[in-house]
Amino acid sequence: MRLDKLLCECGKASRSEAGKLIRGGKVLVNNQVIKKPDFKVNELTDTITLNGVAVEYKRFTYIMLNKPEGYVSATDDPTEKTVLELVSEEDRRKGLFPCGRLDKNTLGLVILTNDGDGAHFVLSPKHHVKKVYRFRCLSPLSKESVCRLEGGVDIGGYFTKPCTIKMENELCGEITLTEGKYHQIKRMLEAVDNKITYLERISFGDIVLDPSLERGQWRYLTENEEKIFIRGKK
Ligand code: URA
Repeated sequence: MRLDKLLCECGKASRSEAGKLIRGGKVLVNNQVIKKPDFKVNELTDTITLNGVAVEYKRFTYIMLNKPEGYVSATDDPTEKTVLELVSEEDRRKGLFPCGRLDKNTLGLVILTNDGDGAHFVLSPKHHVKKVYRFRCLSPLSKESVCRLEGGVDIGGYFTKPCTIKMENELCGEITLTEGKYHQIKRMLEAVDNKITYLERISFGDIVLDPSLERGQWRYLTENEEKIFIRGKK
């Protein structure tokens, strides 16, 4: 891989900044100053430093974010705040995108990654990755409505796949989906003449929203949590 590309992928600099740093003699490869941005390095075996600090190469980045209200699940938006604005500048440079979307007013677990194939794998309905949401609705949800929702309802020309619902009381509960259509839960509740007033995603496959993260905070996934994406590469 080119040296300037590696610095970019590690979030150390933009492509043009990387070129300047390299030409300025700030980058060493195996203890030798390299001044050519297109110098080829082996990212797995070469030792690279920038300003004397080791540059750790990691092919993909995976971040767990506790999304607050008011942010859109997009990489950029002309008018709205995006979930990418909540992570560090260094991580943003790595080309992260949200793995699946939450609505602007939905809270909770969003995964940000630059692993396109992994994201494609976990989001494919074929792989039945379970997503759990805590919800509150406007009117009491009858047992009959719960049964209808679990069996699948028409949300405007699309019949939802079976899902499971555990009610805590007649207004609040948890719904587990294996698919993710636009505004799916809101439209499902509308199909039984109700309305969502609170929605929070609390898990995505085996990845559970870390209770120590305040709204707006994030952390990297652990190696164990990352496995859901790695499976997509086998
Ligand atoms: N279903 C919705 O209606 N909204 C979300 O943000 C996620 C699932």
